[in-house]
Amino acid sequence: MRIAALLLAVPGQLLAQTMNAPPAPIDRLPGAGRAVAVEAHAARREALMDRIGKGVILVRAASLRDGEREVLQDNDFRQDDYYFYLTGIEAPNSWLVLTADGPDHETTLYLPERDPAGERWTGKKLGPGQDAVSLTGIKDVRALEVDSFANVVKQIIVESPGPVYANWVSEGAIVGLDGDRTGLLNVIPIIDSMRVVKDSAELIALRRAIMITAEAQRAAMAAARVEMYEYQLEATIEYTFRNLGADRVGFPSIVGSGPNSTILHYDVNRRQIQDGDLVVMDIGAEYGQYTADVTRTIPINGRFSDRQKAIYNLVLGTQQAAIESVRPGLTLRDVSQVARRYMSEHSGNLCGSEGCNKYFIHGLSHWLGMRVHDVGAYSMPLEPGMVFTVEPGIYIPEENLGVRIEDDILVTEDGYQILSDGAPRTIEDIEELMQSGDRPKTDGGG
Ligand code: GLY
Ligand code: MN
Ligand code: MN
Repeated sequence: MRIAALLLAVPGQLLAQTMNAPPAPIDRLPGAGRAVAVEAHAARREALMDRIGKGVILVRAASLRDGEREVLQDNDFRQDDYYFYLTGIEAPNSWLVLTADGPDHETTLYLPERDPAGERWTGKKLGPGQDAVSLTGIKDVRALEVDSFANVVKQIIVESPGPVYANWVSEGAIVGLDGDRTGLLNVIPIIDSMRVVKDSAELIALRRAIMITAEAQRAAMAAARVEMYEYQLEATIEYTFRNLGADRVGFPSIVGSGPNSTILHYDVNRRQIQDGDLVVMDIGAEYGQYTADVTRTIPINGRFSDRQKAIYNLVLGTQQAAIESVRPGLTLRDVSQVARRYMSEHSGNLCGSEGCNKYFIHGLSHWLGMRVHDVGAYSMPLEPGMVFTVEPGIYIPEENLGVRIEDDILVTEDGYQILSDGAPRTIEDIEELMQSGDRPKTDGGG
């Protein structure tokens, strides 16, 4: 019921993608991931080629990670963000080559041939062929033979109508295919400036990650009990993520109670939570390569004390003032100043004569997208399609009292939209959910 209600509250595009939608077509299109928003990705490639005018862009996919060398926390593969931004596919060890010569644009995708023996270990992969053309909308898909590809690239570099750019950086320098410094330019800052403004396909994934995360906050609120361990709340949260189809966590879940509520990035989550404690839950599901970042602070026993209420409402008021100021043309610095001013003017005697800003020890905002602290300059004026967090907090270690409230905000033509409002935020709504014990429905798929 709850999920149906949530879906009714979201824009039309999302209604097509219900939580109970059948699994994405991963079996039909082996090893590539979910269906690709073909037009959106083509538009990004075109925009990027327009930006460089003349030249070649080499975009390398990520490789499978090696479980013998690394401690893999989730899958053995997560696509390179730049490659994903331009292709939408999860194919490892592949390359995208974009060539721009004024208005003439060429796009070529190089995919490794399929390896049936290897696929017994790794699962099916997308190979060159019609499946890849249909999935990506890229008509020129070629087999990647690494040796001959190196020669192809050398030839491309020689024949390029302009500079050659690449998306990988090693030891502070852009390094060529053979490890030599071939004078490649770094394309990352150009793509970063595009990534700050999300298109509608990106917003679909981001909204879904955020909806899942809001449901996890609700599930944790309903499950919270005195003397449970922080990891048990974490388990409820991450169960909900996966049960609703999230791919992984966007960052390690922060579940900090009592003294740990004052540690900003506490993610050990091993303490037993005591009666009277607040718990800061700063969590984000990743879906389709995009991550949410939503924090709620709850009283483990279901009722805020008077002191906790006073601090909580100051943080909430600060957040609300900052959010309400959001509109195109401002910068994140402007929004942060609104928050600081509000907190300073409304601290009263809550934190002593200096006011509570001295306990608000981090920045107010960061961009959100494929990374929790997403790319892009913080000085950019806000534009419709930008997404960022607003997350004031007050942390008083001498009282074991930490409060952070964090929401994900989309800039719209005339203001803002709170994407994470599926998670209760006021004292009244949090206490009501915790008292009701109304556990949200968490079955779903897709
Ligand atoms: N979850 C990390 C942060 O809020 O910045
Ligand atoms: Mn954040
Ligand atoms: Mn956060």
